[in-house]
Order: sequence, then structure tokens, then C-alpha cells
Amino acid sequence: MIASKSLNEKPEIGCVQRCIEPECGTEYDLNQRVYECPRCAGLLEISAPSVSIESTEDLRNLWRSRSSSCEAKDRSGVWRFRELLSFSEDAPFVSLQEGNTPLYAAPRCAGYCHLDSLSLKHQGANPTGSFKDTGMTTAVTQALVVGARTVLCASTGNTAASLAAYAAWANLRCAILIPHGNVSHAKLAQTLDYGAQVLEIDSNFDDCMRLARELGQEQLIYLVNSINPFRIEGQKTVAVELLEQLNWRVPDHVVVPGGNLGNSTALGKGFTELFDLGLIGSLPKLSVIQAEGAAPFARLFSQIDLNRFKSAPIPDNLLIPETQPQTLASAIRIGSPVSWKKSLRAVAQSGGWIISVSEQEIADAKAIIGREGIGCEPASAATVAGIKKLVAAGRIKQDEEVVAVLTGHVLKDSDYTIKYHRQALFVDERSGQTSEKENPFTTNFGNSTVQVEGKKQAIIEKLMR
Ligand code: F0G
Repeated sequence: MIASKSLNEKPEIGCVQRCIEPECGTEYDLNQRVYECPRCAGLLEISAPSVSIESTEDLRNLWRSRSSSCEAKDRSGVWRFRELLSFSEDAPFVSLQEGNTPLYAAPRCAGYCHLDSLSLKHQGANPTGSFKDTGMTTAVTQALVVGARTVLCASTGNTAASLAAYAAWANLRCAILIPHGNVSHAKLAQTLDYGAQVLEIDSNFDDCMRLARELGQEQLIYLVNSINPFRIEGQKTVAVELLEQLNWRVPDHVVVPGGNLGNSTALGKGFTELFDLGLIGSLPKLSVIQAEGAAPFARLFSQIDLNRFKSAPIPDNLLIPETQPQTLASAIRIGSPVSWKKSLRAVAQSGGWIISVSEQEIADAKAIIGREGIGCEPASAATVAGIKKLVAAGRIKQDEEVVAVLTGHVLKDSDYTIKYHRQALFVDERSGQTSEKENPFTTNFGNSTVQVEGKKQAIIEKLMR
């Protein structure tokens, strides 16, 4: 239950960074610059803060009232929920007014999935066009708290754009490692425009991530990938915002795409903390969808009894990385996800599923989301493709309440979208990139342009046809 203290009292933070390995559990001070447990190399997470508000109703009202406040901190959809964050009131918070993203009813997507209804939580409506901003605001704030001067991440594109923007805002040097030739133009353009130093590595994301972890050991560099537990803290507030938008009715299912598995980890942590505080009475089933060619997590799920891992230690070698991940959804072309243990635990505790979908399924689902007038980038569409598959398999019932989290804006990968609609989307088996030669997609929901003579009558004739 919530501890009793008055609203005006300065909250006592009392949080630590804690190793997630049950047999280790070592705690570290919040200001220690560690990204994994120095004792056992386990992942770290921030312990839940003790919330100092008298009742759950007071807390809900306080959060809602901040939506109409003019204070910068209240206008952020992350810092609005600061009772759940491990920062002191006077922390130099870095915000681009992230969060407060829309929750859309999506009847066409619902029909496509054979559901009565389906909602889309569009994280692409964040300042840099992806869900990364909700975690970047807290991670870059923490960079200032620990006195960092240079922040660094490895990225498939969105983390890069987000970090570059927040670093620029906070006046920090920013370095980005990306896999050469494997990041969409839009994401690269954003990152360059925000002034980051972009280093292209002649390899895949997993190698960039390995290098980033090595570089993070240098005192000069502050690592801001989702292995950094302060990223997860910001991202977990999406769970709170979603519940608020649903008037605190817990949906049956929340479905996210899975790459490095920070997002599913964060949502799982958010829902669990709300449950522990008594703000919700049950957990939604949290399901993760991967692309078939980059699906080590889905493969693992199909091979184990997930119930065993709700709280028991998870062996390090349980997940077999995919050495050559392939998918046109380049955001989730990841073979060795860093946060897989945390995500596995979150899915296990919620009773959800982890599955993969094909390139064709992702492409068609993306077009359907576009037809709603909403749109998203390819990786985000894996959710709707996955929901369709889970409904067909009887895992999701037709009348259940389902939320898909769309992670990136429709303009994040316009090359992909144009090629789909022009029937020119192909997959190169080896690189997982578009290719003019191999494996054509069927453009099931295409909408290609029409050439027409620049005369009124000619246009009318085309329109009538
Ligand atoms: N969707 C989008 C649009 C993404 O950019 C990512 C990850 C994911 C889903 C997967 O989320 O990694 O938390 O499981 N993008 C990272 C990046 C890897 O570098 O931008 P995850």
C-alpha cells in the first residue's frame, strides 16, 4: 500500500540500482556509473521508489491535474508521473515535452485481426518520432546528474535520433554507432541535423552494441542504450499514461514489437509497479512480436516452459543469438537482444506470448495501419501482424481488449512505404535489405500513383474510372 506522507512533503527517493540476478542482487548507489553488475555482470534495474501520497485516488488526481499545468515538468508525459521516478525534485531534468501520445481506436485494424475492437498507442507522436524519447529524457537527465560530458549509443536509428536531440538540448557531446548502410535515411537525417557525431561501423547492430558496451567502460563516455536502467524508468511511464487514458481499466493484452527488448521490459516494469501500488488490480498480458528473420527471443519462447522463469534465475546461455539477423523492419534487425532476461521475466509474470511474423505479414499490417489514417514504421506494424496471428491461434479472444504499441512514426522509413505501394518491395535473403532481384512481396493493400495528363478532363476521366 502507499506510504502516508503529505502531498507537499519533498519525496524521499530511497531508490538503488539493483542487480536482477536473484542469487546476486547487489545494490549500487543511484549516482554510480554502472550499466551492469560489477560483481556478476548481471543487468541492473532501479528499485521502485516509495511513493509519498496518501491514496491511489490522490495520486491519479495529481497526475491528471498536471496535464493542464503550464509548468515544463508537468507538461512532459514522463515527468508528470515523477512520483514513480528515481530523481530528486531539483534534478536538472532534460525534456522536449515527450509522452502524452494519443491512444486511437482502430476499427479497420480490429477487423483485419478479427477483433471487436483494437487500440493503437502511438509512440511515434513523440518529439523525435519514436518511443525512445520517453526513456531518453530520464537517461540524459541522469547523464547530467553524474556529470557526464559525452553520451554514446549504438542504434538501428531511432535511439540515435532521440539521443542526438536530447544531447543537443542538454549541451552534451553525442556519439552514435550505427551499422553502415542499415539505418533509414530519415533517422540518419535527424541524427545529423541534431548535431551528433555519427560513426558508421561496417557490421550489424549487435557488433555496434558490443562496442558501445566496451566504450561505456571509459570514464569519458556515458552509455545511453536501454542497458542503462535510467532509460527503462522513463519508458515505463507509458504504462501509466496508457492506464490513465483507459480510465484505469486494465486491458487484456498489450502488444509490442521486440528488438533489443528494452521497451517490453519497461512496460512490464511499469505495469508491475502500478499493481504493487494498488493502482491496478491485475496485469495485462504483455506479448512481444519479432520479425521472423531476427527472432531469437520468439525461438526461445517456443522451446521453454515460461512459467519456470517468473522469479527463478534464468541461465545466461538460454537465449541463442541470431548471428545474421534479417528483416526489412530495420529498427528490429537485432540478433542478440541485451535486455532479454528482464523482458522474459516481464512476459512470464504477465502470462503473455512471444512470437514472430513474416515480412509479408509486417508489410500488409503496416498498410492497414496506414489506411486508418494513422500509419507507422515497419517495426511497429509487427504488433498488428502479431495480434492477427495470436487471434487466429486462439491466444487472444475476439471480445478481449487489446492495445498495440506503435513505436515509430510513418515517415521514419518512407523508402519502404513507397516501394510497398509501387509493388517494388523485395527482400535480399542475405542482407535482409530491399533488393531489386529477390523475393518480391505481394502488395495486398497497395496504393500506387497514377500518371495523368495535366488537363481537367483527363483528370476527371481518371477519377471516374
Ligand atoms: N520499434 C522501433 C521503431 C524501434 O526503433 C525499436 C528499437 C523497436 C521497436 C524495438 O524496441 O529494442 O526496446 O525491443 N530500436 C532501437 C534503436 C534498437 O536503436 O533505435 P526494443
